[in-house]
Amino acid sequence: MLFGNKCYNPSMNLLSAKNLSHTFEYELFSDVSLELHAKESIAIIGVSGSGKSTLLHILSTLLKPDDGEIFLFNEDVSKLSKKRLTQIKRDSLGLVFQSHYLFKGFSAYENLEVASLLSQNDIDDSLLKRLGIDTCIHQKVTQLSGGQQQRVSIARVLTKKPNIIFADEPTGNLDKETAHEVMELFFEYCENNGAGMILVTHDETLAFKCKKVYRLENKKLEMLK
Ligand SMILES: Nc1ncnc2c1ncn2[C@@H]1O[C@H](COP(=O)(O)OP(=O)(O)O)[C@@H](O)[C@H]1O
Ligand SMILES: [Mg+2]
Repeated sequence: MLFGNKCYNPSMNLLSAKNLSHTFEYELFSDVSLELHAKESIAIIGVSGSGKSTLLHILSTLLKPDDGEIFLFNEDVSKLSKKRLTQIKRDSLGLVFQSHYLFKGFSAYENLEVASLLSQNDIDDSLLKRLGIDTCIHQKVTQLSGGQQQRVSIARVLTKKPNIIFADEPTGNLDKETAHEVMELFFEYCENNGAGMILVTHDETLAFKCKKVYRLENKKLEMLK
């Protein structure tokens, strides 16, 4: 069993999805399968509305699929108790989603302190420097630009030291140079911590920096790399 970031095995299957299907008003996708191993990164690209975010919500257990199975750390998600699933989410999954807002009444640093306290990991000052948020870190979240808030969310997630990072357009508000720096940071994090990442992006250049690339198109997940 895997708790927090304490277990490390490069060949370990972090996530395995089998034959996932989901329908809202119309069928978004069917028979989608993928596997994520330690130190691996997967990018999912596709046009707007193809169901990328929905797929990421399903993979990260925020949404139940109509059909199919998800295994996290070799445990069948549909068979987990609520308590165990909450524990896995808290200790092992890191979400960088637009909808996962920072606490607005707090400073950026206080937001990181919450993650630091909950996970008992220190805040890494060099991480803040690399993300270029070391100088604005004591400002209130509401005083930061969209791009700064996005980088604080990334710092918060990495402070938690998750085993799997799920990121939905994590660099959408960043300039090209910063976006590449953020990607490098994610890759280094995965490499150094035996973690894995699933990234949704419309930016093919960033996507192809990942080890595997899939396109969600015509309701299927096609492997491009
Ligand atoms: N909670 C929901 N209820 C109903 N329809 C939804 C919901 N979430 C997404 N959709 C619809 O599913 C489709 C795919 O959305 P989404 O997964 O966000 O695609 P993408 O991220 O590729 O742009 C869209 O048509 C969207 O309106
Ligand atoms: Mg989306």
